[in-house]
Amino acid sequence: MATMTSLIGLINKIQRACTVLGDYGGEGLSLWEALPSVAVVGGQSSGKSSVLESVVGRDFLPRGSGIVTRRPLVLQLHKTDNGTQEYAEFLHLQRKRFTDFAAVRKEIADETDRITGKTKQISNIPIHLSIYSPNVVNLTLIDLPGLTKVAVEGQQESIVQDIENMVRSYVEKPNCIILAISPANQDIATSDAIKIAREVDPSGERTFGVVTKLDLMDKGTNAVDVLEGRQYRLQHPWVGIVNRSQADINRNVDMIAARRKEREYFETSPEYGHLAHKMGSEYLAKLLSQHLEQVIRQKIPSIIALINKTIDELNAELDRIGRPIAVDSGAQLYTILEMCRAFDKVFKEHLD
Ligand code: GDP
Ligand code: NA
Ligand code: MG
Repeated sequence: MATMTSLIGLINKIQRACTVLGDYGGEGLSLWEALPSVAVVGGQSSGKSSVLESVVGRDFLPRGSGIVTRRPLVLQLHKTDNGTQEYAEFLHLQRKRFTDFAAVRKEIADETDRITGKTKQISNIPIHLSIYSPNVVNLTLIDLPGLTKVAVEGQQESIVQDIENMVRSYVEKPNCIILAISPANQDIATSDAIKIAREVDPSGERTFGVVTKLDLMDKGTNAVDVLEGRQYRLQHPWVGIVNRSQADINRNVDMIAARRKEREYFETSPEYGHLAHKMGSEYLAKLLSQHLEQVIRQKIPSIIALINKTIDELNAELDRIGRPIAVDSGAQLYTILEMCRAFDKVFKEHLD
């Protein structure tokens, strides 16, 4: 088990290496695409950013009513040793360590505005963020703008289709695990998340159905049929979630208190009590992590093949430039080559 945990840690490192590699041509990108990630999809204000925060166990995402998430956020979680300090880093601000997560949230909002302006426009240029913490599981998560049915004031008519296309470009990849978020206070039959998930993953093998806002359902109704898989069948179990309400956010209810409240909600619920051990944010995080481990293990042989192809290409490039090279791009290529070799060695050790 410890082996698998470190393996996912390696995958996260490789994904970071690949973002660097991407600057040198298409190869980095194809390696990136070979690795699994988790994308959060759903309608606007269905609770996507809130679910991501709960999985991470940290407050750092801009949330709220309306279109808050306007660029994809590619978030890599790296589990560090117990006792080490938690910090975050952006790809666009390398070497700046954020230990204040309120500052992370502000930087996401500022970096969003830098590309889109302070408008309601969207951009498909992703923001890359890494979080290093002893309190996370190793995962790559992607927060996406919410699907919507109508353009609002200040948006072009095409925005509905633009967002759908952007979301589809992430979730149609066979390596993408889909966290399909549906709010419990809307009919699951009309869920934007399930609609797009069903389209790109008809067998449901890479879709996790998540029901948020259970606390906001009309009195006398419940989501037991959905949560027990009777309304829409997926290969994985449905997970119910209670995130912080806007009032909780305004009152600065912290993550620990929110999780305690969520656990209490399920444990004391007359409707969901019998499902309590399979509900909530922590359970969802565990479920996802286990699934990723399984998927990654199946991928090791093809990852090794891709790394070796990258090594060959880097060697050819270095031969072309002529080595040894002490400075600039040659040295950087050399570093990447060394990294690839190290990864290759470790992967082979994991292939039993
Ligand atoms: P997104 O637009 O899908 O990313 O949704 P957000 O995470 O930004 O949440 C939208 C609003 O719904 C915020 O005001 C949240 O506080 C609220 N919200 C999200 N999930 C829940 C939930 O489970 N219960 C309650 N009461 N409110 C929620
Ligand atoms: Na929102
Ligand atoms: Mg959001």
